[in-house]
Amino acid sequence: MEIRLQKFLAQAGVASRRASEELILAGKVAVNGQTVTKLGTKIDPEKDLVTVNKKVIKVEKQKFYIALNKPAGYITSLKDPQGRKKVTDLLKDIQVRIYPVGRLDYETEGLLLLTNDGDFAYNLTHPKHKIKKTYLAQVQGIQSENDLQKLRTGIMLSDGPTATAEVNLLKKGKNTATIKITIHEGRNRQVRRMFEAINHPVLHLKRVRIGNLDLGALKVGEYRFLTPLEVQSLLKMSTNSDKP
Ligand code: URA
Repeated sequence: MEIRLQKFLAQAGVASRRASEELILAGKVAVNGQTVTKLGTKIDPEKDLVTVNKKVIKVEKQKFYIALNKPAGYITSLKDPQGRKKVTDLLKDIQVRIYPVGRLDYETEGLLLLTNDGDFAYNLTHPKHKIKKTYLAQVQGIQSENDLQKLRTGIMLSDGPTATAEVNLLKKGKNTATIKITIHEGRNRQVRRMFEAINHPVLHLKRVRIGNLDLGALKVGEYRFLTPLEVQSLLKMSTNSDKP
């Protein structure tokens, strides 16, 4: 059966579907020895020989799904020109190529999924699927109800207004507050930018939930494999959102 080249690369665990598209556009991918830069190109994984940077790509049949409690001070990209620590450095026992589902900032802690299943990663990160992500943010100052309401209804950022969010004040400290915020968009540094927009910068940020999956008792830096039921239920959430 023929499939699109970028889908094949994602399924093989080379990179996410979007990052695979970039590899194709950059001329790094060849099919049967011919460089391919057209995104719609279809291939037959049984017959065609696909290479990325001249390395032969095979689809890994076994799929891995991992939940990691990411520590601050780790990047979610697979390569870093600055040589910083990578989240995949924490998965020493995993021999297959896996990559993060979406991203967390260098300084952000908490729940990060990693997989070699490109369809799973695609479904969970596609904006149209609106998968909810919940964060605990420790922020500077104490927010007024009016500020919190602005975050809930949508606030203007440099790349447009945010969608509605669930926002609850959990704890008031002396000069800081702890806020639980659930968003279903995945814009770059979104939570931090939302709080900056109301002049209450985030001091500490931790993701505690993705869809219906909680961070649970995982300690910082620890990881575990998802159960088949957890994988199914995350996938079901994303595909259900396709239905009218
Ligand atoms: N929002 C942020 O600001 N940072 C993250 O890492 C995730 C969401």
